[in-house]
Amino acid sequence: ETDTDMYYTVIAQAGETQFLPGAKTKTWGYNANYLGQTIIFKKGKHIHVTLKNELPELTTFHWHGLNVPGPIIDGGCHAPVYPGESSEIEFDCDQPAATLWLHAHPCPSTAQHVWKGLATGVVVQDDVEAALPFPRNYGVDDIPVILQDRKFHDDNQFDYMADYDPDGVQGPTPVINGTINPYFDVTTQQVRLRLLDGANRREWRLHFSDDLEFTQIASDGGVLPEPVTFTHLMLTCAERAEIIVDFGNYKPGDEVTLYSDDIAILTFKIHEFASNPLNLPDHLVDVPDPEVTPNSQTHKVVMSGMDEEVALNGRKFDMQRIDDRQQLGNVEVWDITNTNDMDGGMLHPYHMHGTQFKIISRNGHAPYPNEMGLKDTVSVNPGEEVKIKVWFNHTGVFMNHCHIIEHEDGGMMAQFEIF
Ligand code: C2O
Ligand code: CU
Ligand code: CU
Repeated sequence: ETDTDMYYTVIAQAGETQFLPGAKTKTWGYNANYLGQTIIFKKGKHIHVTLKNELPELTTFHWHGLNVPGPIIDGGCHAPVYPGESSEIEFDCDQPAATLWLHAHPCPSTAQHVWKGLATGVVVQDDVEAALPFPRNYGVDDIPVILQDRKFHDDNQFDYMADYDPDGVQGPTPVINGTINPYFDVTTQQVRLRLLDGANRREWRLHFSDDLEFTQIASDGGVLPEPVTFTHLMLTCAERAEIIVDFGNYKPGDEVTLYSDDIAILTFKIHEFASNPLNLPDHLVDVPDPEVTPNSQTHKVVMSGMDEEVALNGRKFDMQRIDDRQQLGNVEVWDITNTNDMDGGMLHPYHMHGTQFKIISRNGHAPYPNEMGLKDTVSVNPGEEVKIKVWFNHTGVFMNHCHIIEHEDGGMMAQFEIF
């Protein structure tokens, strides 16, 4: 059965990274000094992963966005891998093509582990996506873009505790795919960017020089039903967007810059390329949108507070307590509100493990056009109520939380059981 099995080894390890001239920075990564290579799964395969912890402390390996059976494979707080130890997981990859990610999730040290570098892209491939006219030549016209920010202290080192902020640690320096001031050589008319907000707290308000238009083709859980073209895109923590950028109006020697607000984060250097106009169909894929199970309950999630006060439904996370339950096979409504003040209160990105959901509404209105696909993380603005439709493929205990990682570590997290 080797044609249906795929084997991987992921080692969490310590290393050193040359971010800046001078001293290297002490960092962590997956089979790498910092971050790691994109892990590629194929739908329909049986996946075996050996998880190894070569770090001096306990960590976990969380597959953010993967529909997996139960908390041990999911890799949240329930699945510690102790220093020097390893564990084996296996599961069927049974979800649509998407850009997901792997990150450490040892509560309450998730934020520090991610800050040190324990995050990497995960791509699921399938036949449906493969039949669409998207760029998919990895590293040439299809690239991951992991958006992070960091602060460098003496000798170019991170100092998480010195930078600590209960509302999320930020740094002044954009670090994109683990690189400061990165550039990309454009050798094809179109380039597909798999954007991931891998920052602990920062939102990215993305736009290109010349207000160049781009087309979003996928969100967290996979391809959108229809492509959406615009000039500005906001990503909140843990959200992904796949976009296609068309450089057809540029000539060799030109440069195009990707900004977040007014900070340049990535430069595209235009080279010679063959003309290849983008021709996307109006309809890309059928996104599942099952009916809500009649007479099922509506789950309430109230995200409140800032600083140490953050809470979910007025409570702090407790691993001994199951906060909510949903029956396998049911499609139920979860109603998420952010009680923060509309002026000055923080946005909370709401995330659920073990599933991809559909957004029903924002304050009673239709979701944004680029929110019509599957999602696992949704930004909930201050004063906003977001309704989502949630269903599962597997039983088990999973977590839901704010994905500002310091809020999550600060207890703005709960767990629910699918039975
Ligand atoms: Cu991105 Cu609980 O995780
Ligand atoms: Cu997750
Ligand atoms: Cu939050």
